[in-house]
Amino acid sequence: MEKSNSKKKIAVFISGKGSNLKNLYEFSKKKVSKFTVALVISNKKNVSGISFSKLKKINSICIEKNLEQFEAKAYLILKKKKIDIICLAGFMKILSKDFIKKVGIPILNIHPSLLPKYKGLNTHARALKRKEKFGGCSVHFVTPKLDSGKIILQKKVKILKRDNENSLSKKVLKAEHKAYSLALNTIC
Ligand code: GRF
Repeated sequence: MEKSNSKKKIAVFISGKGSNLKNLYEFSKKKVSKFTVALVISNKKNVSGISFSKLKKINSICIEKNLEQFEAKAYLILKKKKIDIICLAGFMKILSKDFIKKVGIPILNIHPSLLPKYKGLNTHARALKRKEKFGGCSVHFVTPKLDSGKIILQKKVKILKRDNENSLSKKVLKAEHKAYSLALNTIC
């Protein structure tokens, strides 16, 4: 049995690779961590984030359904497992206003831009097109308005002339891995 009774129980929602999940999990094993990864929910089957969860014996479930069914099922599991905080990490569905309200616990998201700039998709391509000098990531609270909730933490990365979408996304992802655990730990 893990000595994590006083730690906040988090659920991580994923859709794919789960590199942020992996980093949250690794941080959760450190002494300084105020959270434990108690549940992983994926809206896609056969993704590496789920293989990782299975390997680490984290409770995990795939719900490959429409948004309404996804939210109904997720809600029941979140309550059953007494989850304190939800972390969206590379999760590609947009949660409904009703779910956000009903679930009644904080929901965090990590977004690959320095919000409020570049909400939505294709953030890196847009930042490069605009010839931005800096890119980065933002950890923020989720509200019904997309990528608009209160920002908890941001990390900047320099955009060099030679950067392309691929190199910039790699740099930003590295920053995401540091930012998410730190931001989560501060709100726990
Ligand atoms: C990350 O850039 C995240 O910000 C975005 O999806 C990407 C993949 O994340 N929303 P992960 O490797 O699945 O955690």
